[in-house]
Amino acid sequence: MSEYPMEFNIIVETARLNEIEMDLAAGAYMLLTDAVADVNLNNVPGLIAEIGVRLGFGIFSMMCAGGPTRYYIGIDPYGNILYHDCNGRVARHDYTNSMRNRFLKNIYGWTETTGIQFSLFNMEDTEFFTRFDDGILHYSNEKILETQYAVVHIDGPHELESVNLTTNWFIPRVPVGGYLVYDNVNHYNHSIIDGLLIECGFEQVKEISFKRSYIRRSLHVS
Ligand SMILES: C[S@@+](CC[C@H](N)C(=O)[O-])C[C@H]1O[C@@H](n2cnc3c(N)ncnc32)[C@H](O)[C@@H]1O
Repeated sequence: MSEYPMEFNIIVETARLNEIEMDLAAGAYMLLTDAVADVNLNNVPGLIAEIGVRLGFGIFSMMCAGGPTRYYIGIDPYGNILYHDCNGRVARHDYTNSMRNRFLKNIYGWTETTGIQFSLFNMEDTEFFTRFDDGILHYSNEKILETQYAVVHIDGPHELESVNLTTNWFIPRVPVGGYLVYDNVNHYNHSIIDGLLIECGFEQVKEISFKRSYIRRSLHVS
């Protein structure tokens, strides 16, 4: 891990201590931590979200970078349903309810000590889009309605139709300075998504291990 910056090594070590599973491409998660650090630095409003949570290293990395002033959400059905994976296969993986329980136990053990606020929306992204079209509520002394997304990690189903739908749903909800981050961009025709994002005022920031991040520079649609 020595090739990563010190802050990231600490994230990886903390994840290990809390049994939050990371994968071998941990370096690619720096796209996420950089994006979250940037929106905090620039006071970009909105939620930090992840579609496709698994054992939580993506959302955990973002929590470490963003700290307790943000609200974090994860969207994942688990339940061992059929999954369109990054190899183009539709199959059942190990994304079970037992995995969800393990993730929640680990992450809430950690958030209890750090004051980080997190909610899991235990459903498919498509269900979330229909049911939470007008935002999500959370409570911290006040009732807070969140309708914007500062950073979204898109790591659920890896096929074009789904990624396209997701991108179109988030575009009107990402303010200037916000980020959309994609995983496995090599496993579908990402050039279509790339074109859509550029048209809508986004600019590519980085690509590491087939994760790619985009920042919104303007709300103008060309
Ligand atoms: C590749 S894993 C995510 C890895 C995770 N982002 C990380 O950084 O460790 C894919 C996840 O997508 C979830 N998933 C499957 N179908 C989904 C859907 N329609 N919407 C949201 N998540 C979905 C699976 O349950 C699984 O947990």
